Amino acid sequence: MITVLLCVLVCECVAVPVVVFPMHGKVQSPDFPQPYGPNLLKQWDLLVPEGYQIKLTFTHMDIEASQDCSYDAVRVLLDYQKSLGKFCGQENDPDGNHPGNEPILSPGNKMSLVFQTDNTNSEQHKGFTAHYQAIDIDECAQLDADSEPLCSHICHNTLGSYLCSCHHGYTLRADKHTCVASCVGGLFSELDGHLSSPGFPEASRRGLDCQYLISVEPGFLVTLNFTSDFQIESTDVEEGSSCLYHWLQVTVPDKEPEKLCGDQSPGVKATHSHSVTLDYHTDTEGSSHGWSLHYSTQRVSCPHPGSVTNGRVTPNWTQYSYKDYIHIRCDQGYKLMMYGQEIKSSVVRCQSNGKWHVPLPQCQIIDCGPPGGLLNGGITFISGSDNQYLSVIKYHCDEPFYSQFGGVEGEPCVFSITINEKQCSVFIDFSVIVLLNVPPPPPPPPFGVSLSCSPVNLTCAADRKWRNKNDVLVVPICLPVCGKPIKRAGQFGRILGGNLALPDTFPWQVLLGVNGRGGGIVISDRWIMTAAHNLVHNGVPVDKDQVIVRAGNNDVAELIKEEPASVASLHVHPRYNNPNSVNYDNDIALIKLQNRFTFNSSIMPICLPPEGATYETGLLGLVSGFGVTEKDGQSFISNKLMYFSPPVVDQEVCRASLVGHRQQLTDNMICAGTPEGRSDACQGDSGSALAIHHQGRHYIAAGIVSWGINCNARGKYGVYTRVGNYVDWIKKTMADNDA
Ligand SMILES: *[C@@H]1O[C@H](CO)[C@@H](O)[C@H](O)[C@H]1NC(C)=O
Ligand SMILES: *[C@@H]1O[C@H](CO)[C@@H](O)[C@H](O)[C@H]1NC(C)=O
Ligand SMILES: *[C@@H]1O[C@H](CO)[C@@H](O)[C@H](O)[C@H]1NC(C)=O
Ligand SMILES: *[C@@H]1O[C@H](CO)[C@@H](O)[C@H](O)[C@H]1NC(C)=O
Repeated sequence: MITVLLCVLVCECVAVPVVVFPMHGKVQSPDFPQPYGPNLLKQWDLLVPEGYQIKLTFTHMDIEASQDCSYDAVRVLLDYQKSLGKFCGQENDPDGNHPGNEPILSPGNKMSLVFQTDNTNSEQHKGFTAHYQAIDIDECAQLDADSEPLCSHICHNTLGSYLCSCHHGYTLRADKHTCVASCVGGLFSELDGHLSSPGFPEASRRGLDCQYLISVEPGFLVTLNFTSDFQIESTDVEEGSSCLYHWLQVTVPDKEPEKLCGDQSPGVKATHSHSVTLDYHTDTEGSSHGWSLHYSTQRVSCPHPGSVTNGRVTPNWTQYSYKDYIHIRCDQGYKLMMYGQEIKSSVVRCQSNGKWHVPLPQCQIIDCGPPGGLLNGGITFISGSDNQYLSVIKYHCDEPFYSQFGGVEGEPCVFSITINEKQCSVFIDFSVIVLLNVPPPPPPPPFGVSLSCSPVNLTCAADRKWRNKNDVLVVPICLPVCGKPIKRAGQFGRILGGNLALPDTFPWQVLLGVNGRGGGIVISDRWIMTAAHNLVHNGVPVDKDQVIVRAGNNDVAELIKEEPASVASLHVHPRYNNPNSVNYDNDIALIKLQNRFTFNSSIMPICLPPEGATYETGLLGLVSGFGVTEKDGQSFISNKLMYFSPPVVDQEVCRASLVGHRQQLTDNMICAGTPEGRSDACQGDSGSALAIHHQGRHYIAAGIVSWGINCNARGKYGVYTRVGNYVDWIKKTMADNDA
């Protein structure tokens, strides 16, 4: 089994042998030169390479002669059937059929010999020898009157084959047999040129098949301009004349080919293509004089882009062609937009297909974005909208709670000013300009720039920045308005136990909780002023976490519902030293809050008095508080804000009233009240304000409720910390701790 398998494998792997046919050979009868035997039948099949014929020559022949060689014979066959001869006998033998020296030629490359004998060879004939040779067939010579010649022009015999060639001016076709008249033809890729029929202006030869290809760069269009010298044979048919046998065919991609003929020059023909094929055909009859043309090219045009709203197209031409560029620029205040995106610059190119490479961009109005936010202020549009180019805005402070002046006329107004993109704050005090917080390097003071405290108009400029006329961005800083409650309390001086304060009349009032009830005064959006003795008990400062600050309501029940304001730090006056509740000198302290108030009608600061301010005796003040009040001879803690209006008391009169008491009146104190008593600040009011309406403009915190001898005691007055003596300390403490 294994052996067989192996054999199969090996056999299959044997390469097919290349058959090499012999170019010559020898054939002889069996046993030659001994006599041949009886009853023989032997055949030889001769084969030589294709393109050759076999020339067979008998060199010896000695075969029994007989009529028609019917006993013994050697036959020469073509394809086993057609006989080329049947031979027997000897040379010069009158009987038989001896081939002699004449060779026998096969028409093809095959020949067979068959040697046959009868039952006897009594005369001892020897048989035959022959040799054969492959000889080349001269195909060119095989001229047959009826058949087409192998080559239409010239035939060259080659060994085993033949080749055709053509007379001058003709070329061999792909069939390798026929010749066609050669054309100058070819490819024309220059942007203009000249071409004409072969031999023009001589008449065209017959049998032409010429092809010309004009193919220029895409983006150019070919125009043919035929000269007037034009004649191509046309044939008259029923419908008129037709280009039946001779023609010049113009072929453009994607269009029906057009055949031209006749005596009339087609003149100028625009092809609208960058590639044109011309086929010139003449058949073997008739006559055409031919044609000549010049071709030129024009660049493809792109549709006119039109105009761009709020922009310009440059260059401004009436027509744009392939390879032209246009730029689109927007007018000042507009930006280039494409596919909904802003683009930096725009160049649009006319392409070879006659289309712009991108759609035309649009010009869209720019906007400056929302103007920088203003704390406690806002923006008013004077003209324009959506922050668009040339919109005009004005900043405003949230009046009446904030203003550029902090509500204090004569005080400098404050701006944030941006010069050369750097920001600094500016106080404008009359004509003196002082730059604060100037970042390095300091910008030059805006001399020559006139700034006023009234808000300036800002315009959205082409650089998308809000600017005023002088290119200096001036934004006001909104300061809290102090001492101007939206409602003023009536001054009821002598009503027992005080009056109920109406809402919003004492917006600076703070309810202070430090182991009991106290008062405080809002003096800025994060500073509360109070009496030092509220924050120092028996000489020991309280912890800031023990201090609870509430503001914004006149009703304690409502107030305590609110989350108190977080305290950041406590600042007791450094010279306050009152361990035994005897020395109330410097009874002033400040509380810094964690977060700033946003002022409204119920929370507003009171103004500080001018440094060292003094007050006329008898001037009525306002004292508010949540302290002990008295009704019908009963004292009780008030749950509503109460107030009264004590007059300022002469310092000496007040000092005299205190004779015999351990407490001392100092120049840092101010007294207010009536000799009859009846109306006085009391326990729980400590730290609240003695407010005085200053110069008919606003309330100042002239005093802080500090101490007194009993409440409402006859002949005794309330004693207040004289705030005007501490303005420097207050401002410095606030400035030093403002971060
Ligand atoms: C066509 O050729 C003629 C003769 O050469 C010339 O006068 C004419 O301007 C050409 N026309 C065009 C469209 O090129
Ligand atoms: C472009 O040219 C035409 C005519 O030459 C003129 O009417 C038009 O105003 C021009 N457009 C611009 C934007 O210059
Ligand atoms: C601001 O704009 C308004 C309205 O256009 C105008 O009346 C006013 O004079 C402008 N103010 C300044 C300072 O330019
Ligand atoms: C004022 O502000 C306080 C604290 O922000 C708030 O509790 C109060 O409701 C406000 N009052 C008014 C009248 O807006």
